[in-house]
Amino acid sequence: MTSAEFKKLIAEGIPSELPAFKFYDRNINHAPKRKEILNRAEKKLAIKNALRYFPEKFHLVLAKEFADELATYGRIYMYRFRPDYEIKARHIDDFPYRSRAAAAIMLMISNNLDINVAQHPHELITYGGNGAVFQNWAQYRLTMKYLSEMTDEQTLVIYSGHPLGLFPSPKDAPRVVVTNGMVIPNYSSQDHWEKFNALGVSQYGQMTAGSYMYIGPQGIVHGTTITLLNASRTISKSGDTQKSKLFLSSGLGGMSGAQPKAAGIAGIISVIAEINPKAIKTRHSQGWVDEVFSDLDSLVERIKEVTAAKKVTSVAYEGNIVDVWEKFADENIFVDLGSDQTSLHNPWSGGYYPAGLSFEESNSMMSEYPEKFKDEVRKSLRRQVVAINRHTSKGTYFFDYGNAFLLEASRAGGDVLKKDGEFKYPSYVQDIMGPMCFDYGFGPFRWVCCSNKPADLEETDKIAIETLVALIKKSPDQIKQQMTDNIHWIKEAAKNRLVVGSQARILYADAEGRMEIASAFNDAISKGKISAPVVIGRDHHDVSGTDSPYRETSNIYDGSKFTADMAVQNVIGDSFRGATWVSLHNGGGVGWGEVINGGFGMMLDGTPETDSRLRMMLHWDVNNGIARRSWARNKEAMFTLKREMERTPGLKVTIPYIADDKLIEDALR
Ligand SMILES: NC(=O)c1ccc[n+]([C@@H]2O[C@H](COP(=O)([O-])OP(=O)(O)OC[C@H]3O[C@@H](n4cnc5c(N)ncnc54)[C@H](O)[C@@H]3O)[C@@H](O)[C@H]2O)c1
Repeated sequence: MTSAEFKKLIAEGIPSELPAFKFYDRNINHAPKRKEILNRAEKKLAIKNALRYFPEKFHLVLAKEFADELATYGRIYMYRFRPDYEIKARHIDDFPYRSRAAAAIMLMISNNLDINVAQHPHELITYGGNGAVFQNWAQYRLTMKYLSEMTDEQTLVIYSGHPLGLFPSPKDAPRVVVTNGMVIPNYSSQDHWEKFNALGVSQYGQMTAGSYMYIGPQGIVHGTTITLLNASRTISKSGDTQKSKLFLSSGLGGMSGAQPKAAGIAGIISVIAEINPKAIKTRHSQGWVDEVFSDLDSLVERIKEVTAAKKVTSVAYEGNIVDVWEKFADENIFVDLGSDQTSLHNPWSGGYYPAGLSFEESNSMMSEYPEKFKDEVRKSLRRQVVAINRHTSKGTYFFDYGNAFLLEASRAGGDVLKKDGEFKYPSYVQDIMGPMCFDYGFGPFRWVCCSNKPADLEETDKIAIETLVALIKKSPDQIKQQMTDNIHWIKEAAKNRLVVGSQARILYADAEGRMEIASAFNDAISKGKISAPVVIGRDHHDVSGTDSPYRETSNIYDGSKFTADMAVQNVIGDSFRGATWVSLHNGGGVGWGEVINGGFGMMLDGTPETDSRLRMMLHWDVNNGIARRSWARNKEAMFTLKREMERTPGLKVTIPYIADDKLIEDALR
């Protein structure tokens, strides 16, 4: 297909003639059938809603087709309208545009839907089983059309994948504003999501899926490496080497699949159980996991061998994680670090496979006998907890990996609660990421080279290394370890060959690091050292972007962890400080109704105006969360904030006075 033909197809939007019917391609990884949730009247409404995208002349054919899709898959994806061209990141100028910023957004959307990047590309799901970019193919087509024709004086408004339209706006305003899954708080249960999504009026955007900021598995490999390194440091005795501890967890899916690779980079032996043979095959063929076992006795034998020899190896077990926890306890295999990364944010429709049932049995039970399936999930979670508790009583360090494991296990009646109602085990944010990273402002800063050229990525890596090496010289001791880990990471990043899809990179940096790196990129673009614009952004799993009481904000102890002011303020603040696009989501990671998170993207084009925008916006994007964390009395954040106020004129933040606990107890007596 020529470049002109591609541009024409993007600009076409909904075609004037019906495209040919598309058969369901069994070679692609598809979303599971969603549970039947709509009554007859609601089904009528779902079809009527879907038909709004098309002229009446198509309705006779499409009404029947959409009714079939709803009955077969539980959703209307409008498969017929999936374009025939390859959807992937390309050079920014390969997209048709009047606003270059809009073209950068097209590039990012295309990457999120790339067949080699997305988890269920035909259902427009990027990761996490339900993290949607759009609800259906009509929304994709219309959005791309709008982006291709918009100017720098318009803003495209997206409601949960639906492009509401272009509205006039000033040049400095964001070009796109996205909201995903925003509902009235009382209507935020799992079944509400099922219903609203089936009706075609809301979607689960996860974090970087519905905000167009996903960069493939690299982001998660980096985050998981940092987590495992620091988890291992947390339990290391002084003088103890970190190497060759044993880590047991589950999941080789979208994010969880990073565990064996990251454990290897951190020098840790890992066993990861995965029930889906397809997921194992993918990670094994990628070289992310070294060995595969499907027999528990052989697994035990191998693990005894590699732990005795301190041989850093990653092993996948094809089967249920519950069986491994139990078997290792029976066989007295000491697990140093333990976690779980099944998709428990989505427990009833394929996120968690109960022990005692085969993969296939679970798949049919969850849609045919959903109540019975729920019982099996709960039973399995209780069994898993009993086995984990046997290990922790011997000294295993178990942490919740932000997948709602402890939450769902407690709801299932598992023995995970202390007397005071708190969980027995920490979340990885409470013990590790919160105090070691977020409270100092370190978070998942990422960028994408809009030329789509590896040479530009190489140049940005070089610039990032130079910037961090210069900054660490004047860094306080408190953040030297974080800086060192990330300098090491970025130096090794190209060698680890983690680029899948767009030419992207990630590292953890604090406010100063992010601003200096972005500014150096902008400068290199203006000098032509980088050949095209660069998009900067971040995962939502960050200092300020996410209010999630059992994950990102689980180390907030002033009672405010169930509030979401920080995440909402963050997006509003980013939007008027220069972001190219912003997004705000209900759900993400731990589930619908459990978290509010937001993000941004910013196109660096090498101009001086962009330099001041990036400084203004990144400063707020990190320090909003630092200020809130400091107000919650987190001492690392109080330290960071004081430092920030010393160097930033105009920043004046309310600092808490710290009351003495005994004094309060006496007052209550
Ligand atoms: N990696 C991280 O840093 C991180 C951070 C925050 C949250 N999470 C959470 O981790 C979870 C996993 O994310 P994902 O993208 O990998 O999801 P995913 O659905 O792609 O992968 C989960 C995998 O677990 C497998 N599985 C389910 N039940 C199992 C069982 N009982 N035994 C063995 N395997 C089982 C599934 O087959 C699936 O492949 C999500 O809830 C996500 O929000 C991950």
